[in-house]
Amino acid sequence: MADSSSVRQRKAPSTEKPSPKTSDTRRRVREEDDSSSWVVDALRVITFLFLASCGLSYLISGGETYFWGMKNKPNYMRLDWWKSHFQPPLELTIEELAAFDGSDPSTPIYLAINGTIYDVTPGRRIYGPGGSYHWFAGCDASRAYVTGCFADDRTADMRGVEEMFLPLEDVEVNALYTKEELKELRKQEMKAAREKVHEALKHWVDFFAKSDKYRRVGTLKREKGWLKNEPRRELCDAAKQGRVKRKTPEERAREKEEQENGGA
Ligand SMILES: *[C@@H]1O[C@H](CO)[C@@H](O)[C@H](O)[C@H]1NC(C)=O
Repeated sequence: MADSSSVRQRKAPSTEKPSPKTSDTRRRVREEDDSSSWVVDALRVITFLFLASCGLSYLISGGETYFWGMKNKPNYMRLDWWKSHFQPPLELTIEELAAFDGSDPSTPIYLAINGTIYDVTPGRRIYGPGGSYHWFAGCDASRAYVTGCFADDRTADMRGVEEMFLPLEDVEVNALYTKEELKELRKQEMKAAREKVHEALKHWVDFFAKSDKYRRVGTLKREKGWLKNEPRRELCDAAKQGRVKRKTPEERAREKEEQENGGA
């Protein structure tokens, strides 16, 4: 994307040139000649420097590398990077996506988050087999980004995740509230918990969307209502263990006071 915008920027000045009517045609032609020869010169210099760099690297490394031993070739040296810029967005089913989990070293690694597919091949070390984030490769593990249960939650089914942000029911604490207060409280807690799930997932959605390293390649193709056919899953144990007891009215009042003091 950076490239297309810089191309656009480079082109822009030519459209802002004085209109042909007002300037002498011959002079204009010469100007264009000048500017194009300048561009050709610049290209020559860049090409020369590039080739010289490759040649020097080749000589110094004793024929081992043209790119000074860079482990990951720069993006523009990768054929698939160029190809991807001229490719329409991919649409993969979850089964098709599974083939891009990095098991095959000659295939790119894709992952999906909230239905959008990214190419994470530049991160093969962490997304490939044996990597700490390999769980996320070849699937949409949106749930796992939020619960932290990488192995168990390789799914985009977010139903019930809000439970991890809900306070634990406690008979003694509940007794300190009236029935109406408790009802209103539960409503507020549910709303806050859903927002937290959204925020937690959004953090990672934004991470990939803003990444310079990982490129968006397409979207996940899903049948309408796919979620209804999935069995309901329980919140994973690690996420369950993070839950805390509901606060007492006193604790809530103190918390509110602290927040107000902090904000002032
Ligand atoms: C995930 O995608 C749905 C639409 O498919 C959207 O409504 C929701 O806001 C997205 N969630 C995040 C965290 O971006």
